[in-house]
Amino acid sequence: MIPKETIDKIFESADIIEVIGQFVSLKKSGSNYKGLSPFVNEKTPSFMVSPAKRIFKDFSSGKGGNVVTFLMEHEHFTYPEALKWLANKYQIEVQEKEQTPEDIALNNEKDKLFIIHKYANTFFHNQLKDTQEGKSIGLSYFKQRGYDLTTIDKFQLGYSPENPKAFSEAALKDGHKLDLIIKSGLVKTNEKGNYDFFRARVIFPIQNLTGRVIGFGGRTLRTDKKTAKYFNSPESEIYKKSYVLYGLYQAKNAIIKQDNCYLVEGYTDVISLNQAGIENVVSSSGTSLTEGQIRLIKRFTKNVTILYDGDSAGIKASFRGIDLILKEGLNVQVVLFPEGEDPDSFSQKESNSIFRNYLQENKKGFIKFKSEILLSETKNDPIKKAETIKDIVQSISAIPDQITRTVFLKETSDQFDMDEQVLLNELNKILRQNTYGKATQYKPNINQPKVVDVQKSKKKTFNQLEFQERDLIRLMLMYGDLGIPLNIENEEGELVEQHYPLAQFVIEEMVSDKLSYVNEDYQKIYNEFLDALENDLILNDQHFINNPDQNINSIVVDLTTSRDHLSENWIKKHNIHTKTEGNQLKKAVVESVTIFKLRVTENLISNKQDQLKSEEKENELINILKDIKQLTNVRNIFANELGIIITK
Ligand code: CTP
Ligand code: MN
Repeated sequence: MIPKETIDKIFESADIIEVIGQFVSLKKSGSNYKGLSPFVNEKTPSFMVSPAKRIFKDFSSGKGGNVVTFLMEHEHFTYPEALKWLANKYQIEVQEKEQTPEDIALNNEKDKLFIIHKYANTFFHNQLKDTQEGKSIGLSYFKQRGYDLTTIDKFQLGYSPENPKAFSEAALKDGHKLDLIIKSGLVKTNEKGNYDFFRARVIFPIQNLTGRVIGFGGRTLRTDKKTAKYFNSPESEIYKKSYVLYGLYQAKNAIIKQDNCYLVEGYTDVISLNQAGIENVVSSSGTSLTEGQIRLIKRFTKNVTILYDGDSAGIKASFRGIDLILKEGLNVQVVLFPEGEDPDSFSQKESNSIFRNYLQENKKGFIKFKSEILLSETKNDPIKKAETIKDIVQSISAIPDQITRTVFLKETSDQFDMDEQVLLNELNKILRQNTYGKATQYKPNINQPKVVDVQKSKKKTFNQLEFQERDLIRLMLMYGDLGIPLNIENEEGELVEQHYPLAQFVIEEMVSDKLSYVNEDYQKIYNEFLDALENDLILNDQHFINNPDQNINSIVVDLTTSRDHLSENWIKKHNIHTKTEGNQLKKAVVESVTIFKLRVTENLISNKQDQLKSEEKENELINILKDIKQLTNVRNIFANELGIIITK
């Protein structure tokens, strides 16, 4: 945790033009800077940086935000990584929140573990390259597997000698403490004394995202079945298996460039693919992918391609785990290898170009792949077929994006020769179960009409409502502190014209009608306005731009920038700072508030109409009908007002 004061200091010191200028060539243009978008290929500059507002906006990709957002988007940093990068650049000391004695001890232990792993890595690597035993046994094994020296160095491969004390004696001699060596799992101890965990094995070091060695895998060179083929380091303070992907350190740049990540079973597949010139490849080391590993991939790409062995019994077992990847919003593709081949063997057997072609030509969408595999087993058994369809639809329901879901549903309906509507009903059933399942975890706000899914009429109202919420928030952000003329009663009871901050007007309208926003992000922004108003403060967009919540910050940038707004002429052109400003703003905000109320009422009517469909008790039916009638009256009043405002 970086303390709030330090974060503020970093934001204050960071010069957005200087930072972004390091990655994008910027040219001054009026009070802003312009350049070619670093996120898409383009010929005319649509990337803008405003030093005054301390924001950037890329009109080609839609990305926008503050200096930290830029580093997160461009360099794929996490929030703390971006802050630390800036702190380093501007020489600001980052004292992560006061450390407890336990924290300090833990950090010391982690540091020591890093040191011993680094030492061991050098030891194994030197054994492989510089000793007689290492060269004749380990190096020749790797050579025989087709690995050249560049690959061996890139992955820091090593060799552990047969002598069971080789490593422990060297480490002790070089001053490393025995208890730490034992804690690292590299040395074991029994009644006969200490012995090395890895003996007569070739070594695959496991690195974290920054390239530090955190564990090892060791493969035996014996062919007898007595000893396990692979030994792997145990988990430790620095090695948490579910947050590590083998090869990611070497792969990350290629993953970004190719915008795709190949996922394979193990060490040898990763290395052989590298040897074949394919660098964007990682392995989860034997287990099915965890959420932590998926998030790691997601930092670099949204596309995953899973490479399966030709005879892997685990394909079906892996399906559930893949729903987890879909749920994170990643696109999953699959390549199946011919029987008897894994990515390692197949890439060694075929030329690089044939191998690459094979990947391209056999790439399949996961849903299609899963359907084919399951369908081939159902034969003509209708019960099995029904189960299969449910299983597929379950996978589709995991996909967060509605449009993507619809595309897959259509595809599945063709594949199974099944009416799309039937599949859609099944999908909606699952989605509803998921929604209600989740709803029990938090208290729903009864003021907020939550529209669950589909049903077209409802959806329309929902979107229009959110659109209107967006407009209100935009007005508050851009003109919240500007005055609009209102007739207000003074102490003598006379109406006098007074200027009233726009944000305050919106808030009072919302509060007096007990209204809230459906969109959670807008509600968050509104709440901050509300809290500030209690202290007589009116916020503006600058307040939100340095908000640590990147979501809020990008919404605010999005709402307050458009090509027009960033240009200086806009303000002049619209005469915003003249006498007429107040009246123009007043018209805009009253209109917006009225449309908002109109939409809320329509939403309530639509909810009541839904209730009507499922209600069976007659007196309840009558009550609902009464409500609908009343709400319709209210709706008509708003519509009327709106007619007056617009034509005035
Ligand atoms: N693996 C493992 N532990 C095992 C077996 C396999 O961690 N007991 C992982 C390793 O990461 C390995 C991958 O699964 O790279 C592939 O397994 P396998 O093909 O059995 O290992 P190879 O070393 O390629 O053996 P072979 O030469 O027999 O293909
Ligand atoms: Mn293998």
